[in-house]
Amino acid sequence: MATKLIVASNRGPVSWVQDDDGGWTPKRGAGGLIVALGGALQQRPGTWVSVALEEGDREMAAAHPDEAFEAETGQGTFTLRLVDAGDRYAAYYNEVANRLLWFTLHQLWAEPYEPAGRAWTEAWEDYQAVNDLVAEAVIAEAEGVDAEIHLQDYHLLTAAPTIRRALPDAKILLYVHTPWVHPTYFRRLPDVMVEGILEGLGACDLVGISAPEWAASLRDCMVELGGGVADFDRIRTTGTSTLVRDFVLGIDAAGLGQVARSDAAKAEREDLLARADGRTLLVRADRTDLSKNILRGLHAFERVLEDDPDLADQVHFHLLLNPSRQGVPEYREYLERCVAEADGIRERWGEACLELETTENFPRVVAALQSYDVLLTNPVLDGTNLVAKEGPALNDNDGVLVLSRTAGAATTMGDALLVNPFDVEQQADALRRALTMPEAERSRRALSLKAAAAQGSPADWLAAQRAALAEALRS
Ligand code: F6P
Repeated sequence: MATKLIVASNRGPVSWVQDDDGGWTPKRGAGGLIVALGGALQQRPGTWVSVALEEGDREMAAAHPDEAFEAETGQGTFTLRLVDAGDRYAAYYNEVANRLLWFTLHQLWAEPYEPAGRAWTEAWEDYQAVNDLVAEAVIAEAEGVDAEIHLQDYHLLTAAPTIRRALPDAKILLYVHTPWVHPTYFRRLPDVMVEGILEGLGACDLVGISAPEWAASLRDCMVELGGGVADFDRIRTTGTSTLVRDFVLGIDAAGLGQVARSDAAKAEREDLLARADGRTLLVRADRTDLSKNILRGLHAFERVLEDDPDLADQVHFHLLLNPSRQGVPEYREYLERCVAEADGIRERWGEACLELETTENFPRVVAALQSYDVLLTNPVLDGTNLVAKEGPALNDNDGVLVLSRTAGAATTMGDALLVNPFDVEQQADALRRALTMPEAERSRRALSLKAAAAQGSPADWLAAQRAALAEALRS
């Protein structure tokens, strides 16, 4: 009997659009997880357990209480099981996952002020309760079959112990798509959270993450704060043994190619090039996340113009920003500040030198990635940063990549111009160099980046984890 794959995550692979007659039509969901796992779940028996995020999800959860169902998206059929977290959802997602955990794991706190311990206890209880609901759905799917449980990301850090108690022999893997931090930084979280999270990690057979440095930080937290004992990349406590490793996560080249060849992408490309109007095209495409460092990128661009005002007539900076997590006040404020900063640059240097669009138009993002002369992606910290791989894979213009050395992708994309995300001057230098790079150097770097971007397809990434899980279970 083939092993059943059970994936559990906050955001699932399908979202629902309401028709004029009130019905709901499934479509492929957004985000990096579907890129990573969408293919695998269609090639083998499996269920994707996720949390109901929007009205359509809640309608589907109500129509299929405590059971899995199939959804055909036009880009694949998924077996889904939806968990409706009700009133607990807001605290679990906005307060704990996207604020306390995200800000800690990306080192985003302005420390004299935050984190400040507001309403932690209740929010943490809600987070654990939602994790338990997901764990119960996973248990129901795993009972009585040979299953592999693939928990995804920082939303589900405390689900494993509940699963382990119900199914002691369960094969449990957790993949963390964010960075991880050193124990000193991790301890900014309240002790009760630190303990709960370390217990969650210890209940897994394998914990995966996207860069060696973060795997080391995970192990350090488990040893220094959790009392574990390290045996190379395995951490043991009484009764638990967890392998902690890094895996390279690459892009879905076939899926991207399909979008790139679509009429929608072709039309978007024409439009973008018309807007650039023959100028050198600098692109960024990101969620409006504080970790993406959009403001410092804008400051660096302005420094370039201050140093060489002629470039204001020669360059077009096009930002495609996908509004993200607008339920969190800091995210709303950040988006407003990015827009205000961009408006300021346009006022000072002319409207043609910069355009900021807030959009969720994926074919337009793909078109921009095909066309750029320079791609800027300067996150403060980023688990992988798929854009830094998708860009070079799609680009047919010998485009130059300016990338933070603190993105997981930097470990493989060595021919990018690597920058310190906090150093605006250095980013300005890198942008200037990229915008004026001689053709031969552009072409050499672009070729090497394309080869690097082809490494670690989602299938390879998953196969490597499954092999490591088998290894973890052998000892
Ligand atoms: O980087 C972590 C991550 O979970 C990605 O896998 C995903 O694309 C992104 O965050 C999206 O977050 P959200 O589901 O909150 O929009």
